[in-house]
Amino acid sequence: MKDIILTGDRPTGRLHLGHYVGSLKNRVIMQNEGNYDRMYIMIADSQALTDNFDDPGKIRENLIEVALDYLSVGLDPEKVTFFVQSQVSELTELTFYFLNLVTLSRLERNPTVKSEIKLRDFETSLPAGFLIYPVSQAADILLFDANIVPVGEDQEPMLEQAREIARSFNHIYGETFVEPKAVLPEAKIARRMPGIDGGAKMSKSLGNAIYLADDKKTVKKKVMSMYTDPDHINIEDPGKVEGNIVFTYLDVFSKPEHFKEFLPEYENLEALKDHYRRGGLGDVKVKKFLIKVLEDELEPIRKRRAEYEKDLEKVFKILEEGTAKAREAGRSKVEEVKKAMGINYFEDEKLVKSLQEKYK
Ligand code: TRP
Repeated sequence: MKDIILTGDRPTGRLHLGHYVGSLKNRVIMQNEGNYDRMYIMIADSQALTDNFDDPGKIRENLIEVALDYLSVGLDPEKVTFFVQSQVSELTELTFYFLNLVTLSRLERNPTVKSEIKLRDFETSLPAGFLIYPVSQAADILLFDANIVPVGEDQEPMLEQAREIARSFNHIYGETFVEPKAVLPEAKIARRMPGIDGGAKMSKSLGNAIYLADDKKTVKKKVMSMYTDPDHINIEDPGKVEGNIVFTYLDVFSKPEHFKEFLPEYENLEALKDHYRRGGLGDVKVKKFLIKVLEDELEPIRKRRAEYEKDLEKVFKILEEGTAKAREAGRSKVEEVKKAMGINYFEDEKLVKSLQEKYK
């Protein structure tokens, strides 16, 4: 059997370059390689509600934004099954059975959840739904027999819990689930794309992100405001390339062709860096080059997005059809689960007969 790939995102905001470099690009590659039986991408709206339950409007709005972002980067509904978590009730059902297999202390040990609790000020009043979301995430993965889960490093604890739950279920009720594994991005930079302000990781909450949906003017403005080398004051000054975000982005996005096309006086990125280090190269020139490099990547994404933006009905149709497929797969897995647990009362003809025996 070939792989079943599943991954997902919480619809709490538009996707940005960090998501693109860290995962979307890789999903497109996987999609096109075609080495799988099924590839699922789930919009995790129920999970997003575990810490946004008081703001469902935000989730509803971003559901379509995330879907548009998926389609705009070239993820293809012919190859990928897109679905919406909340519309597959089998996920909720499975979560409830899984909850019996997890202790409270185990839930409290999940390092990602721990740091999220701090971040969200949930320490004094923790919604139970939030604490158990890793169990629901285990259901997301196990319901579809996914063995490959492409995610960021912070999701490794979720996969660990999913494997434990699979093992525990198989042990008690018989072999039913496969143990999934996380596939992390290879390149180090892909694991932690810095924001335009320098130090921190690109994130919506820090306001340091370049979004896939940003227009040309916005991208230009953001690049022009990017953190460089604070000691590089005059053009003649020698500059630092390490920790200089403009160069970090060039490391990720620039290709040899870009030099030929946009900056022919430099042979390659090394030559540009050398000049910067020596002094005599201004930030503005490097930033203008980066804008062209980014536009080369973003323009086709933006164009595709604009097409889908004109036809949101079509986007909803894609989600609806994918969700119907996911539900079908989910329904048959839940049947298998209930059978394994011996709670398939009405499908088990032998059951009533054997119970009847007792009263004969
Ligand atoms: N927790 C993931 C995130 O925050 C989203 C997610 C939900 C997910 N269910 C999943 C990822 C299942 C992979 C598999 O990004």
